[in-house]
Amino acid sequence: MLLSPQAERNWEGLCSVLEDVLEAQSHRQLFALELGSGTGQHVIRFAQKLPFVTWQPSDVTEESQNSIKAYIAATHAKTVLQPVHLDASEPWEKWAGLPRSSCDVVIAINLLQYSSFKTAQGLFSGAGQILKQNGLLITYGAYAINGIITPSCNEQLDEELRKLNPEWGLPDIDVLRQLAYGSGLRMERMVEMEEYYKSLIFRRL
Ligand SMILES: C[S@@+](CC[C@H](N)C(=O)[O-])C[C@H]1O[C@@H](n2cnc3c(N)ncnc32)[C@H](O)[C@@H]1O
Repeated sequence: MLLSPQAERNWEGLCSVLEDVLEAQSHRQLFALELGSGTGQHVIRFAQKLPFVTWQPSDVTEESQNSIKAYIAATHAKTVLQPVHLDASEPWEKWAGLPRSSCDVVIAINLLQYSSFKTAQGLFSGAGQILKQNGLLITYGAYAINGIITPSCNEQLDEELRKLNPEWGLPDIDVLRQLAYGSGLRMERMVEMEEYYKSLIFRRL
C-alpha cells in the first residue's frame, strides 16, 4: 500500500466538494470513474463517505493498480471496483472498455500538472464521450490563470515540475475551459481549496 501524505491532507476537502455536487442525486446509485488514482487513498475515502456511488479507479502504472487493490482488500470496500489500466491520453475507445455515456462522474486529482498536454486533450475529449448528459468532470490541482501563476509557491511548483519533465507543469484554466468547450463540456464552478489548489467542475451538456 503506497502512502501519499498529500492525499491524507486533501481527501476531506475533496469529499466535501463531492458531497456538495452529488447530494441531490444521492437517491440513486451513481457510477464514477477516477483517472490517475495513484495510491488508492482517495477512492477508498470517497467510497466510505459516498455509499451511493460505485467507484472505478484506474491508473497507467502497475504499481498504483497494486496499491489500489491492497487498499480495497484492507478496507473491504464494497463499492470500489478493481482498478483498471487506463491511459487518459488515449482515445476513449481504449478507456478500459467503458461504454459511451456510462459515467455520472469522472474525477482526476493532481493528474493534469503531472502529465503532458496530450493527456489534458485526452481527458477532456474522453470525458465528453464517457459522461452521461449532465454528468460531471471534476479536476483538482494547482493552475495558471490567463498565463499567470500565483502565489510564489505555485510558481515554484510549476518550475519544479518542468524540471522533472518539460511536458509537465500547471495547466491554464482558460486552456482547459476551451478544451472542455470543444468536447461538449462547460466549466460550471471553481472551488478554492487548501494551499492555493482548486477544484474545477465541468458539466457535460
Ligand atoms: C501526482 S499522481 C496523483 C495520484 C492521486 N490522484 C493523488 O492525488 O494522490 C499522478 C497519477 O497520475 C497517473 N498518470 C500519469 N499520466 C497518466 C495518464 N496519461 N493517464 C492516467 N493516469 C496517469 C500517475 O501514474 C500517477 O498515479
